[in-house]
Amino acid sequence: MVHYGDYQMEIYRAGLNGRLPKLPVDFRELEARAHAAMPPELVSYVAGGCGNEHTQNINVSAFERWGLIPRMFVGAAKRDMSIDLFGMRLPTPIFMSPIGVIGLCAQDGHGDIATARAARKLGVPMVASTLSTNPLEEVASEFGETPGFFQLYTPTDRALAESLVRRAEAAGFKGIVVTLDTWVTGWRPRDLNQSNFPMLRGHALANYFSDAVFRGSLVEPPEKDLSAAIMQWGKIFGNPLNWDDLPWLRSLTKLPLIMKGICHPDDARRAIDGGVDGIYCSNHGGRQANGGIAAVDLLPGIVKASCNTPVLFDSGIRSGTEVIKALALGATAVGIGRPYAYGLALDGVEGIVHVLRCILAEADLLMAVDGYPRIADLVPSSLMAVG
Ligand code: FNR
Repeated sequence: MVHYGDYQMEIYRAGLNGRLPKLPVDFRELEARAHAAMPPELVSYVAGGCGNEHTQNINVSAFERWGLIPRMFVGAAKRDMSIDLFGMRLPTPIFMSPIGVIGLCAQDGHGDIATARAARKLGVPMVASTLSTNPLEEVASEFGETPGFFQLYTPTDRALAESLVRRAEAAGFKGIVVTLDTWVTGWRPRDLNQSNFPMLRGHALANYFSDAVFRGSLVEPPEKDLSAAIMQWGKIFGNPLNWDDLPWLRSLTKLPLIMKGICHPDDARRAIDGGVDGIYCSNHGGRQANGGIAAVDLLPGIVKASCNTPVLFDSGIRSGTEVIKALALGATAVGIGRPYAYGLALDGVEGIVHVLRCILAEADLLMAVDGYPRIADLVPSSLMAVG
């Protein structure tokens, strides 16, 4: 059985030969190094959030109000971090959240491909954003045996939405994640102060520019008139969906359909009644609305409302400890966001692999030390509210 915690012995052993880890193993140092290495406008885009970033910050700090209760005489010498998700057995309970500019985070500008390669190496699924530098087919071709999910920003043009979903199906994606909270961009002071919105500069639009339906809506192809193509993208990007649209979304695919951005139990119940297969509790890392509630504080209500429907969660995960707490609160799988973008920025595929291995190692060792050998052992009563 794979024990992700073994990564620490690998690091200590390398130290005996005078080799230190190439990248830091903790988020704070990783973030600092990545910010120093990335272009300033990219740092703003990745690190920035909505308003004064209160929600973004408490997404992280709220986890500190929960403590995992250590249990002894468990003999957790063997741990199993695997989970079942939509009929698939996954080796770990984590996945990589969709990040629209992940392409730009790589030094070669092809971070979507690098992320897919890291997914393949570790068996950790990637949720590939609609906003990517390489078309979804190229991204999916790098997954190997690891399942991938396609994240859909639903455009106002229904034919384009359908085309993107068909392409994702044909490319072998194993589920469609519809992001509901971003039909309009939230107020992001860091980006506004730099007057920088990457897509308006033509970045991360490969899925649109390679799409027959999108191209059919243009007078000239993007290669001939980039500005007009970008303007057209701006017109069709965001669809303020309402409940009447759910049957149509459901009809688009037989693949597992997951709704991202669900934070209210009533919305979870209604989406499940409408036939979705998964609920994805997330506040977009505090990038979209500065409403003031940490995503993790909304998770228990969503889990309760979702009954047996899987609940994916992200927003505020910085280490294995938060992964474990989110699982104990009932998440089925936990999404890693900014940390993997920073690993990528510093060291490409290997940087992502390192960051994910660190998160998994910390989670595994927490399960070992505190006596929770299986994911199923992590339940709400494993936690104590401490603040
Ligand atoms: C995102 N996120 C996001 N979500 C989505 O559904 N589609 C997307 O294209 C993007 N793009 C994106 C870009 C950047 C730079 C970031 C940081 C985030 C949100 C992402 O999936 C996830 O919800 C957050 O990253 C979780 O917050 P933390 O843990 O990264 O703070």
